[in-house]
Amino acid sequence: MKKSIYLIIAATLISGSTGFAQKKAVPAANKTMDTYISRLMAKMTIEEKLGQLNLVTGGEATTGSAVSADVEGKIQRGQVGGIFSMTTPQRIRKAQEIAVHKTRLKIPLIFGQDVIHGYKTVFPIPLGLAATWDLALIEKTARIAATEASADGLNWTFSPMVDISRDARWGRISEGSGEDTYLSSEIAKVMVKGYQGDDLSKYNTLMACVKHFALYGAAESGRDYNTTDMSMHRMYNEYLPPYKAAVDAGAGSIMTAFNDINGVPATANKWLMTDLLRKQWGFKGFVVTDYTAVSELIDHGLGDLQAVSALSLKAGVEMDMVSEGFLNTLGKSLKEGKVTEAQINNACRLVLEAKYKLGLFEDPFRYCNDERAKNEILTPANLQTAREIAAQSFVLLKNQNNLLPLKKAGTIALVGPLANTGSNMPGTWSVNAELNNTPSLLQGLKAVVGDKVKILHSLGSNLIEDAAYQERATMFGREIPRDNRSEEVIIQEALDNAKKADVIVAALGESSEMSGEASSRTDLEIPAVQKRLLAALLKTGKPVVLVLFTGRPLVLTWEHENVPAILNVWFGGTQAAPAIADVLFGDVNPSGKITATFPQHVGQVPIYYSHKSTGRPLAEGKWFSKFRSNYLDVSNDPLYPFGYGLSYTTFSYGDIKLSAPSFKAGGSITAQVTVTNTGKVEGKEVVQLYTRDLVGSLTRPVKELKGFQKISLKPGESKEVSFTISAEDLKFYNAELQYVAEPGDFQLFLGTNSRDLKSAEFKLM
Ligand code: BGC
Repeated sequence: MKKSIYLIIAATLISGSTGFAQKKAVPAANKTMDTYISRLMAKMTIEEKLGQLNLVTGGEATTGSAVSADVEGKIQRGQVGGIFSMTTPQRIRKAQEIAVHKTRLKIPLIFGQDVIHGYKTVFPIPLGLAATWDLALIEKTARIAATEASADGLNWTFSPMVDISRDARWGRISEGSGEDTYLSSEIAKVMVKGYQGDDLSKYNTLMACVKHFALYGAAESGRDYNTTDMSMHRMYNEYLPPYKAAVDAGAGSIMTAFNDINGVPATANKWLMTDLLRKQWGFKGFVVTDYTAVSELIDHGLGDLQAVSALSLKAGVEMDMVSEGFLNTLGKSLKEGKVTEAQINNACRLVLEAKYKLGLFEDPFRYCNDERAKNEILTPANLQTAREIAAQSFVLLKNQNNLLPLKKAGTIALVGPLANTGSNMPGTWSVNAELNNTPSLLQGLKAVVGDKVKILHSLGSNLIEDAAYQERATMFGREIPRDNRSEEVIIQEALDNAKKADVIVAALGESSEMSGEASSRTDLEIPAVQKRLLAALLKTGKPVVLVLFTGRPLVLTWEHENVPAILNVWFGGTQAAPAIADVLFGDVNPSGKITATFPQHVGQVPIYYSHKSTGRPLAEGKWFSKFRSNYLDVSNDPLYPFGYGLSYTTFSYGDIKLSAPSFKAGGSITAQVTVTNTGKVEGKEVVQLYTRDLVGSLTRPVKELKGFQKISLKPGESKEVSFTISAEDLKFYNAELQYVAEPGDFQLFLGTNSRDLKSAEFKLM
């Protein structure tokens, strides 16, 4: 339907009395929206209102066992507010046409999907994106994702995922920005900005959906969907800020978490959804549940579908993803006085407001543009950005005797189950990735080195010895063909190639589906069969470079001791393979730094740099003392600390210069440090600022990240890097949950990672 005709119909529809009370004074633009929606709602029956609260799957990729049935029939009966996992302008137009031509009130649908780290042009997994510490580049990935997804008909993304996680056993650590509150909050803001732009009604924007509210990353024992139980001050200081940052950045929607929080499931948690989110934070968008999270309240033990749907609505949830509990039971609950009409009205209004803000009432087909779909997806420019950011996300963990970069000459033995799989490159949660069109590492290396280097490829080992486990770890088309010959024969083939090579590149680690949803692990090492291959390769005496694929921090203690060079490449997206080649051959100097601590033993988990001191801290330089807080068998140290990552060059830090030894609330000080590139090639360094509150009314972390700057230095070049610190940076939530900066002594640290730092002291007066 043409826009003008639609507007005439919509205008006819909305004429009439409002019948829906407005409480607050609103700006003019909002007044227009309020009036429009009030008039529309005055015409709606309860059933039609409940229809707006229903989010169904489009019958394509889904993320649970439940799939919505009779979607077209439901749309026609006004029982659908939005559809997710339906793409392409043609399909979306078809569904939208039913909504705006065949339903009584012609209310358009909203179309969402998990556009998590890119759309068809896939960028590195979020944990890899965070490792770039490059906010502008991260924002650019969200902008490109929004452009591509909106060109394919979508207007809503279930991203950013901002769950802090300090437990690498949890598979979904791959989907977030890691362990740190400050960094995750900064990333949350730019992601929202990248998706939404400054005007959601533009044709190339997506409404963001912050998830999973809340504390999903703190699942007990790292087991997905498990319980969380947390003190209020930890919640406020460490886990909630990234969600708040995204809300403050204007995110249009928020998704509930599957877990319970201190005994109340998030999806039925009134304190969370209403008191905190609405009243304290002033959130104005709408809340959608996670997949079937309403009906899962039954298994949480809160009652039958009718009871849990009412609980969820009353807690402050507006849209029900897939459970159809809202659609099918809230009418009955209303009649029985278990929910009020005002509660249903409020939910319906918020969903309609989202559609209004997206411009869908003005033009329901705004996002259905075949030309855009043809021209704006997988463009050379997008692919180039994907290649650049992938290379920036890689973290050089070890590089003994500058084994890397490799020369573009001689013979390379490329070995390992991850060496020739394109489908594993995009990583978890890349539902739109063109798996057959993503180069494998073997293809990427060949494309970059041409015939300058001879590459001898062999599998070397299966991904996992246990075939059933390997099957669980290679779902959704992320296949790694299994070789049923004996382990010895498969290794021997690799050794034969290795003998003929100058250097061995071992592509080992996890498959992409070994992290992500419902992919928790108890063992954080590279699968044993791959380690046996690695040991055999090392025995040849040839130099070995480990190209490590992983969606989480792994335990690499043995590898660190035995392998001369380790490059962690996460899952780098559509252009991962050429980007790995760029870094391996030195066309790009690696600069990524890990944003989640790599433990030396799985028993240390949860492990994170911003821990508390305890009353019995271990003295510096010691690894064990009786009656101190430590283990008998391993030191407290991580293998690689938060913020760690090497470069092909080296950097030195001068001493910290403070502008003053103290400042008053309202004032500030500046901390300055000179950073010098002391190596032979140009490189990027992430200069990190941490503080420690030495005396507090609560126990305070031993270090907290407060700022960072990514700089580029030519060989021999120095730069002064300065940070301003004000009382605002030193605030925290005290025992009464007041956000305060407490006067007293502080330590300030500057350096290359959370362990190797220069320090100074200052006072807040
Ligand atoms: C996941 C969400 C996702 C949703 C819709 C759920 O299983 O937890 O992160 O947005 O499915 O696909």
